[in-house]
Amino acid sequence: MNLSSLRTIAKNTMRLSDEAERDPLRFFCPTAVQLAFLKDTNKIVMLRGGNQIGKTLVGSVETVYRLLGKHPFKKVPPPPIEAWIICHSWEQSKIIMCKFHEYVPKHELHPDVEFVDGKGYRATGAPVVRFKNGSVLRFKTTNQAGGNRGTIGLASGSVDWILLDEPPPANIFGEILGRTTRTKGSIGITMTPVGVPVDYLKKLVEDGVISEHVGKLTVENTWPIGLKSPMMSQEEID
Ligand SMILES: Nc1ncnc2c1ncn2[C@@H]1O[C@H](COP(=O)(O)OP(=O)(O)OP(=O)(O)O)[C@@H](O)[C@H]1O
Ligand SMILES: [Mg+2]
Repeated sequence: MNLSSLRTIAKNTMRLSDEAERDPLRFFCPTAVQLAFLKDTNKIVMLRGGNQIGKTLVGSVETVYRLLGKHPFKKVPPPPIEAWIICHSWEQSKIIMCKFHEYVPKHELHPDVEFVDGKGYRATGAPVVRFKNGSVLRFKTTNQAGGNRGTIGLASGSVDWILLDEPPPANIFGEILGRTTRTKGSIGITMTPVGVPVDYLKKLVEDGVISEHVGKLTVENTWPIGLKSPMMSQEEID
């Protein structure tokens, strides 16, 4: 190979790497179960599954599509929208902020947004991420106001999209549902139901209120469509 072809390859590789940094969503390939979640047009959609099948990631990706008002798999309301991501604790919230930031197109963020690697979005109170199109994302926790007895705070009334990265207590779920009534908003739930009471969610799935997708930890469920290999081999899963 001559020097000029090498230069071209190097230049193109750098361009791709810059583009992946700028707009990582363009390079996202969902697994089959992630795709089913992304395509679902029901009001409340749940992805229940094993550890590490990409639940939090697909929830973050869905949130990005909705904040931008551009979704490759379904019609979503035009921006600006108000979105919330609700986790149990701030520790969990940091993890999801990092995952969210990895996939958000950086040029769509409002210039005031500051992200710190490993820590999340810089804020004086609860982290708020503003977009140039006017959309706003707030990170909230269910334990911030006293767990089961508390509420998730009244900072803002109606919400268009809420992602729950763990099942919340039933009373908080009721409040969350209420927040999306006026906006005809949608809710995504991504969770592994271990060690938490989820009977009320089970009932809502049985009653057809929640549209459920189940992703067991299998090679297929860790294999992004179109890629040559899965994220986990059978040995790793075993
Ligand atoms: N479609 C995908 N393409 C590339 N990487 C992916 C994809 N889905 C998930 N991953 C990667 O797999 C790992 C696990 O993803 P994630 O944390 O979202 O899983 P999870 O189901 O939420 O895990 P946990 O059960 O620990 O909460 C992460 O490193 C994530 O970036
Ligand atoms: Mg997770």
